[in-house]
Amino acid sequence: SIAYVNGAYTPLEDARVSILDRGFLFADGVYEVAAVIDGRLIDNEAHLARLERSLAELRLESPVTMAEMVEIERALVTRNGITEGLVYLQVTRGAADRDFSFPRGVRPTLVAFAQKKNILASPAAQTGVKVITVPDLRWSRRDIKSVALLAQVLAKQAATEAGCQEAWMVDADGFVTEGSSSTAFIITRAGVIVTRPNSSAILPGCTRRAVMALAAEQRLSVEERAFSVDEAKAAAEAFLTSASNLVLPVVEIDGSPIGAGVPGDSAKRLRALYLDFAR
Ligand code: PDD
Repeated sequence: SIAYVNGAYTPLEDARVSILDRGFLFADGVYEVAAVIDGRLIDNEAHLARLERSLAELRLESPVTMAEMVEIERALVTRNGITEGLVYLQVTRGAADRDFSFPRGVRPTLVAFAQKKNILASPAAQTGVKVITVPDLRWSRRDIKSVALLAQVLAKQAATEAGCQEAWMVDADGFVTEGSSSTAFIITRAGVIVTRPNSSAILPGCTRRAVMALAAEQRLSVEERAFSVDEAKAAAEAFLTSASNLVLPVVEIDGSPIGAGVPGDSAKRLRALYLDFAR
């Protein structure tokens, strides 16, 4: 496949950055992931707005404009013949002699690639996914989509080893923050959709925002508040959202079935609504 590195399109196997790149040495960088369906980027304005915000929070300057960023994403979709999949963008503070403080006069590194993935006909949408809970080991600026993902890597690996598809991370007070790479939702027995409010404790999910808007359009009640692991286990339904999986029902948390232990009607409806929005 064809990747993009600092202005050039190159076969993925030849795509290279320096070992002194600050993304590699310090995780000093940010990224975005957007879904592609029918060859079109889904909700991409929201992803690029979040990228600009992540960059600004770290005082990183993008080497290209956001208009050029879209052109790069589209070029990767076209050149790789992607009808369904993902586009990944990453900006780091560039390559410089190893020194913790910002280097001067160094051009940030921009890399991008695209991947084919079955998003619409995902088997997990039919079966639902199982989730474990783990302590949230991350830093206190989780609102920045930084490439420092070690806590998420360990969380997802724990889920995989437990035969689960996602790990919900839990703060020191016992409240769920979010999934290792997705936003966490529950639906109470009274039918209220609950998700944690945006703050520095979570990443402001683009899919989260779209799903909440769609739910509001349908006059479904949505409440932004933190929920505990115990409340989640006792919920009528649960689901997760992300660009890579859209909306997926959660059918089990730490081995406890949620509701009837099968994908809930509301979660299935929200997935269908999101698919309509995306296509
Ligand atoms: N992850 N929370 C975290 C910690 C995430 O990493 C993600 C996305 C989300 C969902 O955000 P959105 O709906 O904008 O994708 C929430 C991407 C998909 C990833 O790292 O691959």
